[in-house]
Amino acid sequence: MKGGIIALGASALLLPLAIAAAPGEKAEGLKPASAFAGIADKDARAVAIFQEMGKVIQHPRCVNCHPRTDRPLSGDAQTPHITPVTRGPDGHGAPGLECATCHGPSNVAFANGTGSIPGHPDWHLAPKSMAWEGKSLGEICEQIKDRKRNGGKSLAQIAEHHAKDGLVGWGWNPGPGRTPVPGTQAEFGELTRAWIAAGAKCPAG
Ligand code: HEC
Ligand code: HEC
Repeated sequence: MKGGIIALGASALLLPLAIAAAPGEKAEGLKPASAFAGIADKDARAVAIFQEMGKVIQHPRCVNCHPRTDRPLSGDAQTPHITPVTRGPDGHGAPGLECATCHGPSNVAFANGTGSIPGHPDWHLAPKSMAWEGKSLGEICEQIKDRKRNGGKSLAQIAEHHAKDGLVGWGWNPGPGRTPVPGTQAEFGELTRAWIAAGAKCPAG
């Protein structure tokens, strides 16, 4: 009985998300970290957990801000950013055309109801050393672990970033007209901690 009630509650919650997403697209979930506890081999467990994390990491909401060029990507089709903006000296845009010229502190819906412009108080591009566009999940994993490329972060700091960072969190709250990344930020943080606890092995390739 209890399970039935929970399932009902969850589908009622997911319904508005499914409507907010592009037509035909369902809001997906993330498996909880506990779903991997039965994999006895630690390396195999870490790889399986990171593959689950990949549903978030390789989602357009994340990759669009981690491009390999100086220009962000936009939308699920990952086309070049609508205006030819560039990263500038520190990812905040070129002098005179900073990201904040258009991207305010929070998402703003277009008046005609067709979508929205993303917002966050510190909206800017990830540095080039953190480019994910066009890379395999294994390559992204090695890069995330490499303190020379990840902004000097320890694995614990990566887990904290995944669980708490506001730009990461935007992926679950991308505004009207954009598909959110699957699951919740808390679940993603929990998966990251479980991956580290299992030895943080990366998928091959
Ligand atoms: C001239 C105004 C303008 C400037 C400057 C600007 N943007 Fe945008 N940006 C937009 C608009 C408008 C959209 C929404 C486009 C749409 O939904 O069709 C957008 C969308 C995006 C998206 C797409 C999100 C997604 O997943 O679909 C990203 C990423 C982005 N901008 C990053 C940046 C970054 C980083 C900067 C600074 C380097 C920047 N933008 C500067 C207007 C701007
Ligand atoms: C608005 C742009 C933006 C979005 C959207 C975004 N990021 Fe980032 N990301 C950044 C910036 C900027 C940094 C560098 C910040 C720092 O070093 O503190 C960064 C750094 C990171 C890092 C640090 C290590 C590394 O090697 O990349 C991770 C991990 C990360 N982001 C994960 C994500 C995930 C997961 C998502 C989607 C849920 C996401 N990001 C969405 C801009 C973005």
